[in-house]
Amino acid sequence: MRLRINVTRKVFNMKRSVIDILDLSVAEIDSLIQTATDIMDHPAKYAHACDGKILATLFFEPSTRTRLSFESAMYSLGGHVISVPGSSNSSVVKGESVADTAHTVSCYADIIAMRHPQEGAALVLANAASIPIINAGDGGHCHPTQTLADLLTIHREMGHFDHLTIGVCGDLKYGRTVHSLIEAMSRYPGVRFVMISPETLRAPTFVRDALNRKQIPYRETTSLEEAMPELDILYMTRVQRERFSDPELYERVKDSYILTPEKLRTAKSDMRVMHPLPRVNEISVQVDEDPRACYFKQMLYGRYMRMALILMLLGDTEFPAPRPLIYDRFVCKNHRCISQTEQELRHAFYQVGDSDIYRCVYCEAKAK
Ligand code: NCD
Repeated sequence: MRLRINVTRKVFNMKRSVIDILDLSVAEIDSLIQTATDIMDHPAKYAHACDGKILATLFFEPSTRTRLSFESAMYSLGGHVISVPGSSNSSVVKGESVADTAHTVSCYADIIAMRHPQEGAALVLANAASIPIINAGDGGHCHPTQTLADLLTIHREMGHFDHLTIGVCGDLKYGRTVHSLIEAMSRYPGVRFVMISPETLRAPTFVRDALNRKQIPYRETTSLEEAMPELDILYMTRVQRERFSDPELYERVKDSYILTPEKLRTAKSDMRVMHPLPRVNEISVQVDEDPRACYFKQMLYGRYMRMALILMLLGDTEFPAPRPLIYDRFVCKNHRCISQTEQELRHAFYQVGDSDIYRCVYCEAKAK
């Protein structure tokens, strides 16, 4: 199979990016799952699909799985990969803006996967680039391609997405994978969430407000033991040490949840344990032997979903209408937001439904 590049896209410089998991419709996610499954069954069919195409990986934060799976995905499609080995080696340390980085890399590659410590950085990159952008994690905001790996895992392990009770446990405040997973799973009927975290690491308001608005049932608890028996999926996460400004607070919460075989005794026999990895100590290695543990499969599925996504974005012809934005009426106060540092970036907010709530388009902090 060889990719057919749409001529209009090349001529008019249009492109499709994935910054948030909601940039993909439910139908597109179904189609990515089908493609990923076909790739797993018939890898040779795709071995030249991206011949001559170049993926640039820009990782300004540590990564093992995400970066290697993107690179392995592109090589498996017959394409090439270029990258800047680490943030300390790129012009970003010389003070180059994200937008200028986008102009630069657009000259050398056909698609970019970027991870950046600031919330909204991937959106700034996409707005300035002339090639498709994939958000490989923007600060504590979101991580759509981890969610693609998670969705394929759920699909293969459970056979369906609807009517699942999903427990998300650990650092729900800074855990970007959880934010994207909740957004994605909220679109399937009968799904409910149990959010298990210390009080200081509750999910941010942009996640909880969206659930309230869509009337999706969820509850919050501090006790993993109490939640365990009702869960179909337990999604564990690491406490994100790098996002804490107060190291003492990190020390206080870092060992809040440690999953052990004993704690799994009250779980359903067909519950699945997931984790985006890396784990620090929140899942005992003894759990790895449990047939319900599927975090190592998640890693493998990530590679195939990233292959499917690269194929889709390099060949895509449909462009959703941009979200209407309000410029310069509000100023984002979130110190982790890209709008705090990016050169001459205008503050841009979107209205939540028809409410009087406005959120920063980059990091989703509420306008005050
Ligand atoms: C996650 C991330 O980077 O957000 N890792 C990953 O991409 N698989 C989770 C984490 O770092 O805790």
